[in-house]
Amino acid sequence: MSPEPFDDRDGTVWLDGAFVPWREARLHVLSHGLHYGGAVFEGVRVYGGRPFKSVEHAERLRASARELNFALPYTAAELDAVTREIVSREGITDGYVRPVAWRGAEQISVSGAGNSVHVAVAAWEWPHVFADGAQERGIRLKTSRWRRPSPDTAPVRAKAASLYAIGTLARDEAEAAGFDDALLLDHRGRLAEATGANLFLVIDGELHTPVPDGFLDGITRQTVIALAGELGLTVRVRGIDPAELALADEVFLTGTAYEVQPVRTVDDRAFTVGKTTLRLAEAYGELVRRTD
Ligand SMILES: Cc1ncc(COP(=O)(O)O)c(C=O)c1O
Repeated sequence: MSPEPFDDRDGTVWLDGAFVPWREARLHVLSHGLHYGGAVFEGVRVYGGRPFKSVEHAERLRASARELNFALPYTAAELDAVTREIVSREGITDGYVRPVAWRGAEQISVSGAGNSVHVAVAAWEWPHVFADGAQERGIRLKTSRWRRPSPDTAPVRAKAASLYAIGTLARDEAEAAGFDDALLLDHRGRLAEATGANLFLVIDGELHTPVPDGFLDGITRQTVIALAGELGLTVRVRGIDPAELALADEVFLTGTAYEVQPVRTVDDRAFTVGKTTLRLAEAYGELVRRTD
């Protein structure tokens, strides 16, 4: 059975200040956001009915819009309240929330000025990104020919829809070649990240992760670095050459959707799903489900 399409479901979506029936949450085909990529979005995970770090995600949505020179008409506190309300209305237990903001249809021109700003929030049940068993086995990455652009070429700090065009090209090529996801290098040819998650290497029991100067400094990345500190692990944030994968015993990805996701192979190089990754995955799993 094919999965339910995202435009044909029961339920409610919050759109521009009102809760509307899911199928009526529409925008016009001449929206600026659709034609010129004037859109930003977020992904928030829900654990046991509670959105994790919802305020941080709302703040990042506002910051992403600012990077694209538009302002959201809602505060982070208001967006957090909407997120909680939609999760509760939809009865989500373990799922995902997608806030999105885009420029409207007042004018069709490369210039973004003069367009209204629209905001929507939708939520659905979504326990895991990858197939069952991927957490235990690890996933397979293919190094992509597509790279993360330099910070003077694109708004790399923003979670901007336009940047995901690169991720889609990379991910589609990786999947067509039989891999689970792509590993992208940055504009200098250093290790960057996967299509929707940040990268960590474990070398001699220490964590090494690239400097986030050309890609998103993920909320999960920051959370895992803090957890690693609590566990007494050393974390080295530095430029990492792809050849250094040969030194790594373990490799894992971090992201709201991916959580702490072990990597089994990068191209034809194999890694173990080892104890450092598993300790962090366990600590992260405990943190996100904590009710205090
Ligand atoms: C391209 C990209 N990098 C990194 C991340 C990880 O960010 P976070 O941990 O805030 O979800 C994401 C997911 O949001 C992403 O899409």
